[in-house]
Amino acid sequence: MKVIVTKDYASQCAAGADIIEEIVRAKPDCCLGLATGSSPVGMYQELARRCREEGLDFSKVHTVNLDEYIGLEPTHDQSYRYFMDTNLFDHINIDKANTYVAKGTGDIDANIAEFQAVIANSEVEVQVLGVGPDGHLAFNEPGEQLFWHAHREVLDESTIDANARFFASRDEVPRYAVTMGMGEIMMAKRLLMILSGASKAEAARQLLMTDAITCACPATLMKLHHDATVIITEELADMIGYKG
Ligand code: GLP
Repeated sequence: MKVIVTKDYASQCAAGADIIEEIVRAKPDCCLGLATGSSPVGMYQELARRCREEGLDFSKVHTVNLDEYIGLEPTHDQSYRYFMDTNLFDHINIDKANTYVAKGTGDIDANIAEFQAVIANSEVEVQVLGVGPDGHLAFNEPGEQLFWHAHREVLDESTIDANARFFASRDEVPRYAVTMGMGEIMMAKRLLMILSGASKAEAARQLLMTDAITCACPATLMKLHHDATVIITEELADMIGYKG
């Protein structure tokens, strides 16, 4: 894995945006794999600025997202469709018809089948990733086994705790999600993780300070990918004793 240590969150976001920009400029009709969560928000803002001020062109770009909560309509302000629209798509010149976020309401089995088909037909140039405090990637929760394909996932109590900050109360956090599977994530040509915040210390330690690959920390599967980049803030790198 390639590890980039940045002095702060702003430079982390700029470094991530540099990687995405290079891909989009080289292949204007590429497919980007995108993630939600607070980690990539600054990178999305930087990409929007580059689109607005520097002519970075998303008009032919396609996107596919990692996951969606089950039970939230796309118009719900905590749905991941809403997140992507308001944090990125509404601020760049992308055709929303070319953006895909799995549906979390209606016939979930049919939604999962559609999600799997979209992924199978997408050649993802780069998959953006955050990580859950419990080491989850997308919503692939730690456990005895992980799954290759998109599926329904029961969220861990710690994930519900971590994501409760975005909802009026913990009770409103959905208990289930639809997530891209680990195999599908690994099929992307490149992986790009944005890693910051003290709550990620244990996941960061497992990822960067051990040689282990374990279902107990799904993020560690990134070590198997031939072109994976982790961008970590100096603060978090220091916290786990990462020296490079
Ligand atoms: C959610 C998402 C993950 C994301 C994680 C971390 O659980 N499903 O894809 O990586 O949140 O979010 P944050 O970046 O806000 O810490």
